[in-house]
Amino acid sequence: MHTIALADIQKQVALLQIAERFFDSVTLFALFETGVFKILSSGPKTLQEIQENIGGDEESLRATLDAAVALDVLSKQNNRYAASESTLDCLGREDSPAYLGEWVALLHALASPLFQLGDAIRTGSTPGALFEDMSGDNIPAKRMTTAMDAYARSRGIEVAERLDFSQTRRLLDLGCGPGTYSIAIVQQHPHVKATLLDFPGPIAEARRLAAARKMEDRLEFVAADAMSYTPAEPFDAVLVSNTLHMIGPAGSLELLKRCYQMLTPGGRLIVQAQYLNDDRVSPRWPTLLSLIQRVATPHGRNHTIGETKEWMEQAGFQNVKYVRFSVWNVCSCLIGERPVHS
Ligand SMILES: C[S@@+](CC[C@H](N)C(=O)[O-])C[C@H]1O[C@@H](n2cnc3c(N)ncnc32)[C@H](O)[C@@H]1O
Repeated sequence: MHTIALADIQKQVALLQIAERFFDSVTLFALFETGVFKILSSGPKTLQEIQENIGGDEESLRATLDAAVALDVLSKQNNRYAASESTLDCLGREDSPAYLGEWVALLHALASPLFQLGDAIRTGSTPGALFEDMSGDNIPAKRMTTAMDAYARSRGIEVAERLDFSQTRRLLDLGCGPGTYSIAIVQQHPHVKATLLDFPGPIAEARRLAAARKMEDRLEFVAADAMSYTPAEPFDAVLVSNTLHMIGPAGSLELLKRCYQMLTPGGRLIVQAQYLNDDRVSPRWPTLLSLIQRVATPHGRNHTIGETKEWMEQAGFQNVKYVRFSVWNVCSCLIGERPVHS
């Protein structure tokens, strides 16, 4: 047997740094799921103090806490475990504006199907049809919808601030999920009447969130499949936000054609998305969003700015323009018009 050369060990170490990255996620998910961050939000605690609060198996808890320290998720001093203030704002304090717990819970639910990505490649299967049952007020629908709200409320308000809604009276938020964007638009532009449309599960959650924010009376809710919905009256603007990636290219073109029919001549379609650049390998998050769709939806995948513009033009929209938001916002918009004489 040959001894392994230092250069080969260095190659292995570099490779293992990639292969072992999932340990970061699993410790973070376990600490969040068991409520450890909430407990640490009042200050550093010993193993016994944490265990008294959450119960369960002491050795598994100790192993997770110690690994979390080794991975820099937690720190340990004088036998007490602690989390940084920024981690606690994101995962321990529900009233913090930075709180992201619902989004991390969705990522946790996605981890198991993502570990079966190889199956999706080999067989074209959908290992975790997490988004499939949106027909009722159930756990997957609530988990997804509250996660969208966590994402949108922290960085999504720009759509209301940066786009011009001065000519918009009737807005349809198609595939509204939690309705966070519509709430922001209606708050900033009180003359806008927004109709929120989604399947029954997300609509039930959207109603609850709107009621909690005392906005229920300012919004109309429609539980329906957008592919078969015909409005009684056309809209001045339709917002399709972060929805096309769930339904894939053929579904997207069909949906955009339906949007065209739902608009008044001269009306606007706003397609907000976490767009891939036309090179398809950047930015980082949109490429990962595509992986999520491949394991959790039958036809979904993320889409580029260029191909979305083409779909909009094929559906009949004109003057399609691209609007970027701040550098920290992964979302951006394409806006097209239904021609006035159409
Ligand atoms: C990823 S969520 C985005 C939610 C919200 N628009 C946002 O940007 O935060 C996509 C939403 O589109 C909805 N959706 C997908 N296909 C739909 C259809 N055919 N009819 C109605 N809603 C649909 C899903 O149920 C889901 O709530």
